[in-house]
Amino acid sequence: MRKVTPEDLIEKNNAINSVLHINSKRKEKPKAFVETYGCAQNENDSEMIKGMLEKMGYEFCNSYKDADFVLYNTCAVRENAELRVFGNLGALKGEKRERPDLMIAVCGCMMQQAHIRDEIKKKYKHVDIVFGTHALYKFPQLLEKALEGEKVVDAPDEETAICEDMTYVREGFPVAKIPIMYGCNNFCTYCIVPYVRGRERSRNHENILEEVRQVASEGYKEIMLLGTNVNSYGGDNGEMTFPKLLKEVAKVEGIERIRFMTSHPKDLSDELIDVIATEKKVCNQLHLPVQSGSDRILKLMNRKYTAEKYMEIVEKLRNKIPDISLTTDIIAGFPGETNEDFEETLKLLEKVRYDTIFSFIYSKRKGTPAAEMEDCLTEEEKHKNFDKMIELQNKISREINESYVGKTVEVLVEGESKTNPDILSGRCEQNKIVNFRGEKSLVGKIIKVKITEAKTWSLFGERTE
Ligand code: 5AD
Ligand code: SF4
Repeated sequence: MRKVTPEDLIEKNNAINSVLHINSKRKEKPKAFVETYGCAQNENDSEMIKGMLEKMGYEFCNSYKDADFVLYNTCAVRENAELRVFGNLGALKGEKRERPDLMIAVCGCMMQQAHIRDEIKKKYKHVDIVFGTHALYKFPQLLEKALEGEKVVDAPDEETAICEDMTYVREGFPVAKIPIMYGCNNFCTYCIVPYVRGRERSRNHENILEEVRQVASEGYKEIMLLGTNVNSYGGDNGEMTFPKLLKEVAKVEGIERIRFMTSHPKDLSDELIDVIATEKKVCNQLHLPVQSGSDRILKLMNRKYTAEKYMEIVEKLRNKIPDISLTTDIIAGFPGETNEDFEETLKLLEKVRYDTIFSFIYSKRKGTPAAEMEDCLTEEEKHKNFDKMIELQNKISREINESYVGKTVEVLVEGESKTNPDILSGRCEQNKIVNFRGEKSLVGKIIKVKITEAKTWSLFGERTE
């Protein structure tokens, strides 16, 4: 891993100033449109890139039609996200013909794959800048070159240490996403992430805590700590463990809630369970991806636990934290999965009774071990299993939500609901969406709401104070 040197920072800041200088000669501030695919980590990367764009004199808009600079921050986890990016890039071809000054950039996990970069070079010649996931702080230098008329492709395989000299344009007030580690060492056989995000590397805890204090001073109330596998935080420099870090974050005044994502079941320690149980600010909620309920498939996936072991963890969690809400990721149609294997997954769903699941149909990823494995089921059978799973889970989610009716929960108000401006939307400690009537001035506050109605995906209630 290469360290970020003082010279790197000087180059970055020089490039920022050069682009700012170019932009300051324009009559109006140039507009940037940034669209993000995939996970919270990617969203956080976009917030960092927007921080750099803002420093370079850009303001932001909501459509490529109004933009002088368009960026797609891409995801490589499943094929359909990749297809959408290619679709969007295709749509920009005509736009670029009409407005040759329009600057088009693509970055993120997809761009770490050589075959994707080749395809862009060949078929999407109107793209000006391509960069990957590893050295985002170099983006101003790429943009400077591109503004001078050069085509820039920069997706190095070399992992760079994390650059701390960054500002963010955050989305999602009053919740701040803060990365604590990057990369993944697990190599689950279906997953492209270790190839496109590199090996695990943790941020220094002092930098993390400084960022938490900063957002607290800006009025943020909730921290979402991000990492592909947060349980192994600190593992590569040994300074601090994840449970200890949680306790430190909890000491920061002004921060009322702490959540984190994602935990690998094989690394969930008793110490972490204790911190969730005893530390009031750490929410009683856990995303604990199981992926499959069949031991045979779990082995093929290289997940390093059995369904029984997973159930033991769930029992331990529920014993110590009775009101904990659990969510998971499930893949249907992994190569070699039979209908019998899938029945095991359905059985596990019935046993665990997750609050929500995030379910996916297996998508073949070039270069991963699973891409070479034999398939058993037809696409139609996979979809049938997938639908069966959704139907079962919807019933369970609804039943759990119905058990909330009549209860009063504390809601951190996030904003107006997407469909009706008279309705506010927020989340309770268990991370369920709670909608209710109220004034916008409540955004950012934690208030009590009595639940009056349950839906499959959300709760509805009335403010009680
Ligand atoms: N196909 C389908 N789903 C996948 N995931 C990761 N890789 C694939 C793939 N190749 C899912 C896993 C993971 C979530 C982020 O995406 O369930 O937990
Ligand atoms: Fe992919 Fe497994 Fe790493 Fe998650 S833990 S990012 S599923 S390899």
